[in-house]
Amino acid sequence: MPDPAYVHAAFSSIAERYVTANHILSMGVDILWRARVVEMVAEWKPANLLDIATGTGDLALAIKKALPEIEVLGTDFCRPMLDVAVRRGLENVLEADAMNLPLEDASYDAATVAFGLRNMADYEKALREFRRVLRPGGHLLVLDFSMPENMFAAPYRLYLHHVLPRIAGWVTGNSGAYDYLGDSIEAFPRGAAFLDLLRRAGFSTPTCLPLCMGIASIYTAEA
Ligand SMILES: C[S@@+](CC[C@H](N)C(=O)[O-])C[C@H]1O[C@@H](n2cnc3c(N)ncnc32)[C@H](O)[C@@H]1O
Repeated sequence: MPDPAYVHAAFSSIAERYVTANHILSMGVDILWRARVVEMVAEWKPANLLDIATGTGDLALAIKKALPEIEVLGTDFCRPMLDVAVRRGLENVLEADAMNLPLEDASYDAATVAFGLRNMADYEKALREFRRVLRPGGHLLVLDFSMPENMFAAPYRLYLHHVLPRIAGWVTGNSGAYDYLGDSIEAFPRGAAFLDLLRRAGFSTPTCLPLCMGIASIYTAEA
């Protein structure tokens, strides 16, 4: 399981270059994935939404731009990432550990977490905490990388473990953070295993939508 102190230090060190690195390393595909998330959130028509591990605010800002009627709060435990989010226009932010949110029970209609849960020390404990702040029937959406289980797995592993850390090292000055990325993706439950995890954390009607041959997935569930 990821070490929170390491994760905090890693994101603090790459905060200023995170947005650029993301778009280069994903060749812009992350923008399309977030657009798909926005479409799914729009269908739920939430009055308020908590974007957990909001980082530099990419998803929270995309939701705010497309759906300005939703009250969006972005939360993250890494101040340098939140500082970038605020500079980019995210008004409501909260510095907090996602495993222990200083928010009332059943206070949100929807919660999103993009590329964040994988970095947390205890996935099930974190999911239980997300469920606590959602109202009964409220929607959770998790967008994260997943290891493909098809013919694309071998070339993707080569890219993930050997090519990506080098490119990321040039862009961010910290290739170590991207060695960690590959390892965290390998260790993160995917597909049916993630749906089981959602059920164990108390969520109902879990769904999985694989993206781009399975290199990422969108999971949804109801609290
Ligand atoms: C890869 S970034 C994702 C940021 C953003 N959601 C996006 O889609 O670009 C992961 C974020 O998770 C945050 N994070 C990791 N563990 C956390 C925790 N326990 N509590 C709050 N934030 C956490 C990190 O600080 C970092 O900003």
